[in-house]
Amino acid sequence: MAEFALPQNSKLKPGHVWPRPEGTNHLTEFKVYRWSPDDDENPRMDTYYVDRDDCGPMVLDGLLWIKNNVDPTLTLRRSCREGICGSCAMNIDGANTLACTKGMDEISGTVKVYPLPHMPVVKDLVPDLTVPYAQLASIDPYLKTVSPEPAKEWLQSHEDRAKLDGLYECILCFCCQTSCPSYWWNGERYLGPAVLLQAYRWLIDSRDEATGERLDNLEDPFRLYRCHTIMNCAQACPKGLNPAKAIAEIKKMMVERRV
Ligand code: SF4
Ligand code: SF4
Ligand code: FES
Repeated sequence: MAEFALPQNSKLKPGHVWPRPEGTNHLTEFKVYRWSPDDDENPRMDTYYVDRDDCGPMVLDGLLWIKNNVDPTLTLRRSCREGICGSCAMNIDGANTLACTKGMDEISGTVKVYPLPHMPVVKDLVPDLTVPYAQLASIDPYLKTVSPEPAKEWLQSHEDRAKLDGLYECILCFCCQTSCPSYWWNGERYLGPAVLLQAYRWLIDSRDEATGERLDNLEDPFRLYRCHTIMNCAQACPKGLNPAKAIAEIKKMMVERRV
């Protein structure tokens, strides 16, 4: 997994060291990024000790153990704890991933946890995703048709359905988006790998009838063409998807429609 620069590090204040739980030596040390709009000690890294005999195996289990047993003010997003909802995405041990599918035992030494990089922070491990969600809305992530609606459903052959493999599995965790250097520098204008993968998912759907309109919407020096094939996105994706490949396919469609 790629390591990412975390510019917050240079400004970090010494954080609180919370007490070790008593009666056990089976502990894992966590260092967790803290930032709160209501706090003067921003930002800082707090140190916690998780009782592994009283806790599940994943980093998310550890964070929830801390929240339930040590520090209820620690704030994070999570929902499914199955790698499906994408809400627990954060930077763990230097890489963007899902806290619910990352095992504590996969990490040697201290478990270091930051919010997804290069995004504004709402509180602690919760990034503000307003911009990427607005970018997602801008590509119309739903089926668009002009033909009269079928009586039952829009049909698709098995072959055409297979073209969505490697795309439909995206859970919109934004691990790729926030690992992309082009998105770090041009996040307001470049759509980023997660949104472009979604754009391609609808471009390639045989049932969709808005291909030309969708390509027009992407034909822009910044929205699409800031991808420089650095491939951090594919390395970061916890679902094993390849947004860079989807972006290359969109660029190919752009060329093909000109000839
Ligand atoms: S391949 Fe493109 S989208 Fe992926 S990290 Fe690199 S610049 Fe970003
Ligand atoms: S492509 Fe992968 S990393 Fe990017 S949003 Fe989708 S699931 Fe997350
Ligand atoms: S809690 Fe849903 S992906 Fe982790």
